Amino acid sequence: MADNERNMTVLVTGATGRTGSRVAQAARAAGLTVRAGSRGEGFDWEDASTWAGVLRGADAAYLVYPTDVGSPAATEAVGALAREAVGLGVRRLVLLSSRGEDRARPTEEALRTSGADWTIVRASWFTQNFSEGPLVEGLRHGELVFPAGEVREPFIDVRDIADVVVAALTGRDRYTGQELAITGPRLLTFREAVAEISRATGEELAYTPVTARQYGDTLAGFGVPAEEVEFLVELFESLLDGRNAHLSDGVQEILGRAPRDFTDFAREAAAAGVWKAE
Ligand SMILES: NC(=O)c1ccc[n+]([C@@H]2O[C@H](COP(=O)([O-])OP(=O)(O)OC[C@H]3O[C@@H](n4cnc5c(N)ncnc54)[C@H](OP(=O)(O)O)[C@@H]3O)[C@@H](O)[C@H]2O)c1
Repeated sequence: MADNERNMTVLVTGATGRTGSRVAQAARAAGLTVRAGSRGEGFDWEDASTWAGVLRGADAAYLVYPTDVGSPAATEAVGALAREAVGLGVRRLVLLSSRGEDRARPTEEALRTSGADWTIVRASWFTQNFSEGPLVEGLRHGELVFPAGEVREPFIDVRDIADVVVAALTGRDRYTGQELAITGPRLLTFREAVAEISRATGEELAYTPVTARQYGDTLAGFGVPAEEVEFLVELFESLLDGRNAHLSDGVQEILGRAPRDFTDFAREAAAAGVWKAE
């Protein structure tokens, strides 16, 4: 990495989240100065008046929109923030997007047309969805109920996403104007993923597939707002229909090494006690 890249200051949005925390970590390890963008640091995607303060003086930014890149709110905010960033001289912007999610395309387009030196990272399902977030609770209690049927997915470790993002942030123009499709190294069904976790924890775990509608009804029962439930039902119906059951070699090409494997993740997370019932 060139010296001028080592001196870069990068804004990392979602810095307390699954990908952002790893991007911040990988960027620091690469010698970059990280400016954390989360609500605790005064940055709010929903309040445009908070954007200039974190953007000004940065050289590049990692953009991750909370909950889902495919929401209309994401399209609007990512486009507006990207235009503001370019106006402030923060031209290099790396957006986390989702592989196979048609509804994410308008958000990607909003970035592309912002005037930025953009890179879009299209990731498959996160491996860490099993260890951080709403799926954990079920696994702690012995059963994952999820609308994924027997579909195969190339789960990707968020640490690999972070390494790819840092490569894009620091790669001068190498990845400018590119969509980088990245996945894990092999396809697993959710049943197989749960079996891997079961082997790693030594606990018996079940996987129970349900329809997206049944899953939505459960979410509604937990008080998730109707609009969000509809969004998720449609998302799961489309995203988990087998369209993503193929590998991409982005991690190997960009990082020159294989992506992390699910078995190693399951062992590490089990050793850390992630799935222990409280
Ligand atoms: N899950 C998957 O398998 C998958 C796959 C591909 C792509 N994606 C995309 O990945 C994104 C989610 O990434 P992630 O899992 O890394 O996020 P995450 O863990 O859900 O974290 C969300 C982050 O956003 C911050 N945040 C929440 N509301 C905010 C607001 N109003 N203003 C500013 N910051 C806010 C949170 O920080 P504070 O609470 O501290 O503010 C947190 O750091 C989505 O766009 C999704 O479409 C997900």
